[in-house]
Amino acid sequence: MAINNFEKIVFLGTGGTIAGTAASSADNIAYTAAQVGVNQLLDAVSGLSRVLGGRTLVTEQVAQIDSKDMSFAVWQQLALRVSHYLSQSDVKGIVITHGTDTLEETAFFLHAVLPASQVASKPVVLTCAMRPASSAAPDGPQNVMDAVAVAVTPGAHGVVAVCAGTLHGAVDVQKVHPYRLDAFNSGDAGPLGYVEEGAVRLVRNWPLAPVDIAQSAIENIASVTHWPRVEIVMSYAGASGAMVDALVSQGDAQRLDAAPVRGLVVAATGNGTVHHELQAALIRAQTAGVKVLLATRCASGRVLPTPGSVFPDSKGLSPVKARVALMLALLQ
Ligand code: SIN
Repeated sequence: MAINNFEKIVFLGTGGTIAGTAASSADNIAYTAAQVGVNQLLDAVSGLSRVLGGRTLVTEQVAQIDSKDMSFAVWQQLALRVSHYLSQSDVKGIVITHGTDTLEETAFFLHAVLPASQVASKPVVLTCAMRPASSAAPDGPQNVMDAVAVAVTPGAHGVVAVCAGTLHGAVDVQKVHPYRLDAFNSGDAGPLGYVEEGAVRLVRNWPLAPVDIAQSAIENIASVTHWPRVEIVMSYAGASGAMVDALVSQGDAQRLDAAPVRGLVVAATGNGTVHHELQAALIRAQTAGVKVLLATRCASGRVLPTPGSVFPDSKGLSPVKARVALMLALLQ
């Protein structure tokens, strides 16, 4: 394949462990995330120019945070910068360095809001690390190389994530381990593929962009000043309706958060079952106009609706992704 020397790969830094440092190179857990800027982070990736294959590197520090602190403002800024770069004809693909903790939420958010016309032909690749940049054996540099390998792969497109040599789609990817380097999986769907010595081996097709996402979606995101408040409640042994009632009632809502709750995602047991006390409170909430969405708290699988289902289900989205989907639906 002829490579245009002016073809660009854009790196957007947002922080995370991949940009983290600890006092000692032997320490892989007591570190501070988001300390190293994206340029310094890339300087430490010795094979980068080889995998870039003559393409130009463009970098931008969009944020510098521990991803547990991800905010709507950062998502908004990130989506706008990604869309800005994707619209440039010389940009081949985008790599986003991100913390692992909410990577799946950001990936799904971008998948949901980026115009189909942009991601149908170019990849947006999120990558991360489980060990800080200061580690004696960091995993970040290899993940960066693998992410670039994905970004330059002919035909690559859609929002994907790369970690530990495994390629995941934005809809299915989920962090499943708090320590191992291979911390993600894609549940029942399985990974999209693997990155082996700089080559991508697909085992599924590149993800499809949501069909109904037009340029207007990203323009709407740009103008949002107040995101609809959607909370997640979990059903468990001994659950009650107290949390839901508090969220919905005006007085308690003021104590918990200034904005009234507009949506509730239920991390339900098994195939969408909910403790009867919580269920009663959720029905009261739904009657009061709060949107309720059922997701399963099981790590894999989806809620299969039954004839008597009281609440709509999340169509296979995990509770955190169902929350993003419900927020975006409420924005319409
Ligand atoms: C973070 O999510 O920013 C910190 C944890 C990590 O990246 O592994």
